[in-house]
Amino acid sequence: MVVGSARYRREPAAGCQLLELRARSNCPGRRTVDLDSAVKRGEIKRRMNLYQRVLGTPFVYNRIRPLAVGGIDMTPFYDRVGASAEDVILDVGCGTGDALRYLSGFSRYEGIDTDDVALGFARKAYGARPNVSFACQICTAEDVERIAPSRVLLCGLLHHLSDDQVLALLGALKSSPRLRRIVTSDIVYLDRSLISNFLASMDRGKFCRRREQFEALVARAEMKVVESAIVPCRPRTGLAKYLMMTIEP
Ligand SMILES: C[S@@+](CC[C@H](N)C(=O)[O-])C[C@H]1O[C@@H](n2cnc3c(N)ncnc32)[C@H](O)[C@@H]1O
Repeated sequence: MVVGSARYRREPAAGCQLLELRARSNCPGRRTVDLDSAVKRGEIKRRMNLYQRVLGTPFVYNRIRPLAVGGIDMTPFYDRVGASAEDVILDVGCGTGDALRYLSGFSRYEGIDTDDVALGFARKAYGARPNVSFACQICTAEDVERIAPSRVLLCGLLHHLSDDQVLALLGALKSSPRLRRIVTSDIVYLDRSLISNFLASMDRGKFCRRREQFEALVARAEMKVVESAIVPCRPRTGLAKYLMMTIEP
């Protein structure tokens, strides 16, 4: 099968195969590969699944991934959250509970994620803390109604969700009577950012977008992006760049 216009005569490097397999139509400078063998495609898919499973293990996610991207410091994200002792925090896509390394005060914290392995790690590390709980599920409108969060963390989540899923989630969050702020952080495709774009293309999330596409989704949900910034994953050394959006109802 020919994808796009350019063809590689020789078998491309594994990274290129992975890059193309995920059909990153938004990615600037995306190169295309001739994947003419069904057998080869099956092999790439198997390798990709293995790669994604490895990337998803808590040890690789928490320890190896930061090394590969030059360090990760999420302080800029949590500064934007601005949580205080009265806040009820809903962390959708909480993963291994990394937020609890940064948050200093809240009245209640609820982490929701669909990955039971990551949640097992989170529960072991933070489950005994007072007013902290975790649930393995997709976040529904009923959860938002029950929790009534004042601050919502979507740290690394939106690039895992389709447009329809993002709109449904933002719509549900908007109905929280206490809602003050939603903060997001996601990998993003940027002009003139080859390394960051490459790292983004290797991510497990299938819905990496360009900055304006993320912002347009918030507008479609009839909420306001009060601040949006491109932030390196670590000052000076970070190779990956994130889009952080502060959203208010
Ligand atoms: C990039 S990780 C971020 C984890 C954590 N927030 C952090 O900052 O380290 C994205 C997480 O979103 C979770 N996720 C993906 N789709 C989800 C969904 N529909 N509902 C809840 N969690 C989801 C994944 O299992 C994964 O743990």
